[in-house]
Amino acid sequence: MINVYVPRDTTALSLGADAVADRLTREIQQRSVSARVVRNGSRGLFWLEPLVEVDTPRGRMAYGPVTPDDITALLDHGMLEGSESHPLCQGVTETIPYLRNQQRLTFSRVGIIDPLSIADYRNHGGFRGLERALTLEADQIVDEVELSGLRGRGGAAFPAGRKWRTVLEADPKRPGQPWSGHKFIVCNADEGDSGTFADRLLMEGDPYVLIEGMVIAGLAVGADTGFIYLRSEYPNAHRILTEAITRAETEGYLGTNLRGSGRTFNLYIRLGAEAYICGEETAMLDSLEGKRGMVRAKPPLPAHHGAFGQPTMVNNVLTLAAVPYILAEGGQTYADYGMGRSRGTQPFQLAGNLARGGLVELAFGVTLRSLLYDFGGGTESGRPLRAVQVGGPLGAYLPESHWDTPMDYEAMADVGGMVGHGGIVAFDDSVDMAQQARFAMEFCRVESCGKCTPCRIGAVRGVEVIDRIIANQDRTDNLALLQDLCDTMEMGSLCAMGGMTPNPVRSALQFFPDDFARPAGNVGG
Ligand SMILES: Cc1cc2nc3c(=O)[nH]c(=O)nc-3n(C[C@H](O)[C@H](O)[C@H](O)COP(=O)(O)O)c2cc1C
Ligand code: SF4
Repeated sequence: MINVYVPRDTTALSLGADAVADRLTREIQQRSVSARVVRNGSRGLFWLEPLVEVDTPRGRMAYGPVTPDDITALLDHGMLEGSESHPLCQGVTETIPYLRNQQRLTFSRVGIIDPLSIADYRNHGGFRGLERALTLEADQIVDEVELSGLRGRGGAAFPAGRKWRTVLEADPKRPGQPWSGHKFIVCNADEGDSGTFADRLLMEGDPYVLIEGMVIAGLAVGADTGFIYLRSEYPNAHRILTEAITRAETEGYLGTNLRGSGRTFNLYIRLGAEAYICGEETAMLDSLEGKRGMVRAKPPLPAHHGAFGQPTMVNNVLTLAAVPYILAEGGQTYADYGMGRSRGTQPFQLAGNLARGGLVELAFGVTLRSLLYDFGGGTESGRPLRAVQVGGPLGAYLPESHWDTPMDYEAMADVGGMVGHGGIVAFDDSVDMAQQARFAMEFCRVESCGKCTPCRIGAVRGVEVIDRIIANQDRTDNLALLQDLCDTMEMGSLCAMGGMTPNPVRSALQFFPDDFARPAGNVGG
């Protein structure tokens, strides 16, 4: 029986993967060949989606991007035997440079396995980390995470091991409170940053790695319950995770008496409230509790007083999904990748005006230029690249003079940028950076939770001031006012939403001043 793979992740589906799978299934039946269609996750080579792969003695052969109308010709050309004669053939998948030149640790199984098959997961090294964790004391698990140097992948890059130890040491007793005695693991799967999709790709392509990471986290800090706070705009991830949780429960990887160990971990999904601020951890906890997502003042930290008033560990999907590898291979093996204080690998997401958008997992230290050109292939439009925003909507716009900066948390911060969640959005030379600065303020105006004045009012005034600059009204005075406003937002805001909105605005002003100095009515040209 020949296995033919057609991805079922959201990107491939949006490009017609279901129709491709249906047509393939029908033609296979009509031709009475011994083959079956397996729905895998995406390899993250989005410009080739839907990417159809066929198992052959030489490895998997890749064909893409495939439409239903290509199927007959592909089969006639011997696709099921791995023939390379059709122009859509990309060769052996693993040898495609975009994939071959990556260092996939967290994404090692994504696109390879059937996401819902526990047998596939196990056969590709799954659950080895959990099996080891079950033999360790809680603080030994935390030691391993500390040794790995893993830092939070959700944006703030806080050392994961230190957070885990804080939760491990937190006292969950709250006399008189309904959840007294319990600790929680909350996975932040709200993924609201522009140009990011790694969390989704992982949850849709390898859901058990997240489940395994969360169970290990529970063992490490003494939590018996976990929640995945999932972006509600991810219905496909929701379906896949829901099914994966059910199957993991059936196989004893979740629930009471985990794999006969006497330990308990229950996992639930909670759908997000469709607001960017609900990705901020304290607003997320409010939303999780059924309230409107508003930022809480810190302290107390969620590690001491989190969900339902109990000690709670909040981690991003990618942070938790890195843990099974760390436990299986050892923290030092993970730490051997990377540079400086940025250890391990980062799944970078290439988006915007790039010829080859997709997911690239590499050790920290790769340059932006390499990601943009060696992987991204330059712009889709064919025009020169001009600006790149890294780290989501609150990240700086970096000009070409900074593209040789290594991707390392500290090195990026030194040039005013940030790695954040690893999202990279590229713009060609037709971009108007004054409009991009306006967009940043407008984004903050729309998404502000409204709790503090610098952000709630500042973003509204910020849009107005930028509009006056663009219209060439009292430009010098309004530019000075904008800088003042940015100072106020940066220093006076309660959370990073208002506090970091000045980053994109200031970088646009600093690196692309000409765009703010055009005669009125001549913007965008
Ligand atoms: C406005 C705002 C939005 C955020 N959105 C997300 C998000 O979508 N996903 C995420 O993991 N972290 C997000 N964060 C960061 C979280 O507050 C928190 O630092 C993170 O979930 C902690 O997990 P980590 O240590 O594993 O990164 C956001 C922060 C801010 C200020
Ligand atoms: S900075 Fe904005 S989002 Fe953050 S607490 Fe203040 S109003 Fe809310």
